[in-house]
Amino acid sequence: MLTIVGSGKVGGDAALFSALKKLDDQILLLDVAEGLPQGEAMDINHMLSEQGIDVEVKGSNDFADMQGSNIVVVVAGSGRKPGMTRMDLLKINASIVKSVVENIKKYANDSMIIPVTNPLDPMAYITYKVSGFERSRVFGMGGMLDLSRFKQFIHEATGHSRDSIRALVIGEHGENMMPLPRYSSVSGIPLPAILPKEKLDELVQNTKQVAAKVIELKGATVHAPGNAISSIIESVVRDRKQVIPVATYLDGEYGHSDVTVGVPAVVGKRGVEKIIELDLDENEKQMFEKSVQSVKDAVSGIEI
Ligand code: 2OP
Repeated sequence: MLTIVGSGKVGGDAALFSALKKLDDQILLLDVAEGLPQGEAMDINHMLSEQGIDVEVKGSNDFADMQGSNIVVVVAGSGRKPGMTRMDLLKINASIVKSVVENIKKYANDSMIIPVTNPLDPMAYITYKVSGFERSRVFGMGGMLDLSRFKQFIHEATGHSRDSIRALVIGEHGENMMPLPRYSSVSGIPLPAILPKEKLDELVQNTKQVAAKVIELKGATVHAPGNAISSIIESVVRDRKQVIPVATYLDGEYGHSDVTVGVPAVVGKRGVEKIIELDLDENEKQMFEKSVQSVKDAVSGIEI
């Protein structure tokens, strides 16, 4: 069973995409708000019936119902409002995530956890610490979403098919996000060979800022995060071993320990099966240090 804790727009969309991709026979939507997960489940099941897809979606307010889950996605918490940074959500969401993870420990102690709640990297750290799970079983969704935006900007700038574009974004899912042109390509041709430096700088800036723009325009980001969650789940359940940037706990990699930040990792049926250490240039290294420092500063003020 796949469980999604938090049945707002992103949780609902994650359930929808996961059901359409048939990532599990049973999907549970959990939320403390009475009626919300039940209504969302009904709405998705109606769609699945018309599509002829035999995935059962259930809504519940009872954490005990997550028993038997192999993957638990944590989207619970306050979302980012217009004008807010992801870090503004730190204190409010830390206590929510802690209590959700206590419940996961109680009812789904063998599961993998995919934190999504913002600020993502500190929440992934809290999830890892509170759960006590091996680090391979806790990996946050942030970079996968950021790279979907980077891909769209590359598509717009080059006119090439989205299908031929590969992109990588590491670091903090926040102000210090690191879209990496050197590790992004169109049909294997590195981006710096296709676009001039000024254009690349513009794409990087746009990738960092575009979530705030979407929030300003429509109140929340929904479909891109919902899809990114399902893509990570797909790599686990189909054991695809895709290289995906996830917020995972570092234990010496990139010269850092005791911090959780976005790095490329092989994601398969055992969760994070390997962390890939990129050869970063001086500028990229500096940006990575800033990401790490930002996450460390954030978690230092939280009692775990
Ligand atoms: C996003 O990037 C707000 O973190 C959320 O869509």
